[in-house]
Formats: sequence, structure tokens, C-alpha cells
Amino acid sequence: MDARLKAVMQFVTKGARVADIGTDHGYLAIELIREKNCEKVIATDKNKLPLESSRRNIIDAGFQDKIDLRLGDGLTVLKIDEIDEICIAGLGGSLIVDILKNSPKIVNSVKKIIIQPMNAVDKVREFMQENNYFIYDEDLAEVDEIIYEIICFSRFKNNLPTKKSQSILLKKFYQKKIEKLQRVLDEMSKSSNAIKTEKYLEIRKKISELEAMIN
Ligand SMILES: C[S@@+](CC[C@H](N)C(=O)[O-])C[C@H]1O[C@@H](n2cnc3c(N)ncnc32)[C@H](O)[C@@H]1O
Repeated sequence: MDARLKAVMQFVTKGARVADIGTDHGYLAIELIREKNCEKVIATDKNKLPLESSRRNIIDAGFQDKIDLRLGDGLTVLKIDEIDEICIAGLGGSLIVDILKNSPKIVNSVKKIIIQPMNAVDKVREFMQENNYFIYDEDLAEVDEIIYEIICFSRFKNNLPTKKSQSILLKKFYQKKIEKLQRVLDEMSKSSNAIKTEKYLEIRKKISELEAMIN
């Protein structure tokens, strides 16, 4: 299991009943049994092929009696009160928001939702905040030069500094963000109209804010 999935797993409560949505290979589900001693893991996928690949890995690990595999869309395959925590990793942020929006009763019934979006992270943060979830903790993980954000949402506030804020990856993470925004700005600078837009000013402001955070 890579650093990204390990960072997701660190936020799961030992012994909890957990759903791994979009399990694919099933690596997270397997480690949740092995490392976190989870009482129950429901591993789901919308597509048959990935679900079959996870089935093979789960059988190889000898956990076929401990992991419940379900085929279906998002949280629709879950019942209220059968799980405590949900993990959704490796999917796009907009898709994650759609999955959560489609099953408000399940979202409202769990204690923790751990999310690692591949993009549109702010959309996920916004949606969770609107639904009265707090950021309990968050972290960064790097795999093949890509830095991923992992956020653990809970019904409770945590006033301790987050793992992300203390991560050795934080500076590199902000630098990468600045470079990305700078590329957009450079592209916009080629048009005399684009540099007069609000978006241009917003990006410049965001770059200054990020620079201030790393200096
Ligand atoms: C890129 S893989 C991520 C696998 C694993 N969670 C990880 O982080 O390594 C995304 C998986 O999500 C599944 N998926 C996509 N949309 C889904 C949905 N609406 N509900 C459940 N699974 C979905 C895909 O079939 C695929 O197996």
C-alpha cells in the first residue's frame, strides 16, 4: 500500500466498522483488517472488473470472510447504522461530492468521513462544511512527485494543529500550487482582456498569499 492510502488509513479508528468506497484493488480494505483490526469492512465499487480484482486480492490475503464486497454506486449500497466511518480515496472531488449528495441519510449517520480527492479539493471542503462536518485532521502524502491531500472530517472540532500544517511536504505542496497558478497567470497575460478580469487579480492575490505562507 502506498503513502497516499497509508495516510488515509491513519485516520480510521481502530476496530471501527468502515466502508471503502471505490475500492478497486481492495488494498485499503485489506490493510484496514490487518492493521486497524476493523470489526467490519464493506468494500464497494461501481464497476465489476475492479470489484473482481479486489475479490482476488482479498482471497489471497485470506480475508474473504471479513470483507463484504458490494457492487454499486457510491453510498447507495450501504444501510444506515451498519458502519461508523467512510473512506473515499482516489476519485475526483466533484464525483465525491455527487456521491455524498446522493445519500444524505448515510452521510448524516456516520462519525467520520475520510476523503482523498484527486482534484477539486475545495469543492469537497465546501460541501462538508455546508453539511456541518468539521476538519478533524488532515495530512499530505507524496507518491511519484504528486502530493495528495487527505482530509478527515468529523462531527467534532479538533483544536490541535493538523498533521498537514506540520508536514515536511507543506512547503513543496505550496510551491507546486504557486507554479500551477503562475502558469495560468502567464497564459492569461498574453491577452490584454484577460489581465483586466477579476479572475486574473484573484489568482495574483492567491499567489501572494501562498508565497507569504512559505516565506
Ligand atoms: C482510481 S480508483 C481508486 C481506487 C482506490 N480507492 C485508491 O484510492 O487507490 C477509483 C475506483 O472508484 C470506482 N468508482 C468510480 N465511481 C464510483 C462510484 N460512483 N461508486 C463507487 N465506485 C466508483 C472505479 O470503478 C474505480 O475502481
